[in-house]
Amino acid sequence: MSFSQKLIDWYQVNGRELPWRTTSDPYVIWLSEIILQQTRVEQGLPYFYRFLQEFPIVTKFAAADQEFILRLWQGLGYYSRARNMQKAAKMVVEEYGGVFPGGYDQAIRLPGVGEYTAAAIASFSSNEPRAVVDGNVYRVLSRYFGVSEPINSSAGKKLFASLAQQMLDVRDPGTYNQAIMDFGALQCKPKNPGCDQCVFRLECAAYQSGQTHVLPVKIKSRVSRDRYFHYFLIADQHGLLMVQRGDKDVWANLYEFPLYQTDTSLPVDELFKELSDSSYFGQPITLDKIGRQVKHVLSHQNIYACFYLVRGFSSIKDKKCLGDYYMWDKIDNLAKHKLIFSFLEENKHLIDTKL
Ligand code: ADE
Repeated sequence: MSFSQKLIDWYQVNGRELPWRTTSDPYVIWLSEIILQQTRVEQGLPYFYRFLQEFPIVTKFAAADQEFILRLWQGLGYYSRARNMQKAAKMVVEEYGGVFPGGYDQAIRLPGVGEYTAAAIASFSSNEPRAVVDGNVYRVLSRYFGVSEPINSSAGKKLFASLAQQMLDVRDPGTYNQAIMDFGALQCKPKNPGCDQCVFRLECAAYQSGQTHVLPVKIKSRVSRDRYFHYFLIADQHGLLMVQRGDKDVWANLYEFPLYQTDTSLPVDELFKELSDSSYFGQPITLDKIGRQVKHVLSHQNIYACFYLVRGFSSIKDKKCLGDYYMWDKIDNLAKHKLIFSFLEENKHLIDTKL
């Protein structure tokens, strides 16, 4: 039996029932794929349902307020994806007459749609014979064929794209693509793969040579920069101080608490001294650290965040305008990045007592 037939047979028995698998609407498939690039299936499901409920058709997405889209996206991270989604929706309206394209060549022209997403849209919605190549596919193919070429080298990318296309079942590319992704996610897992009961164990090169744990090979990228973010919670009867980020750095235009950045980790007393020296608050205050340091990993930087409760701050004396005050119910409506969003979720008791 062929590789693709075995894979599809495995999928018919073990594949997951997921809501985007019962549609051929390219808009719905696009929505699910962009969300799934950002998070795992279980975490992505509620986002998928919420987006579809708010924007059942692409024209509604195109017409939406960007702040509202960012708020729905809140918690997924990498907010340029959400912005690109709206650019794509607008392009569908303007250039494709509001009909979301189901073909690879049209879909790949949309902002935020790369080779993977275009292949997923084209194969799932139109059965166009385009192989998807994502992390799951790299893993399955590198192990099955025993390929140790790094998946992120340019030679590796070419090799795996060509291998994936050769293996594709052109009679049913949509099912084949879903199958290989589920096989990678459920069976040929990164750690502790289920090799003992695997349908490919007799022909899998990695299994036969004991190389499963070292494949696929990935070149480590350059070292990350460490940044230390100190966030201040400042509240009074006007609500909580929030600031909108600029558009040059990470988390462009999203809301957060007033921030002080350092290049090294600082204990509270040293931070306090530095803030006094630089007259950050412009008035005498006291600081209480809330909880532990949180590490947030981005592609080329590690952000270490600490949160502090500020007491004794008077908005009347705030010459520097550290931010704007938002009443508690309004904060819910601001588009915040993951660090802030998660902090507020985990510290509801603080908010309930209004600090
Ligand atoms: N991850 C990315 N796309 C997926 C899909 N269509 N089904 C399951 N997991 C996925």
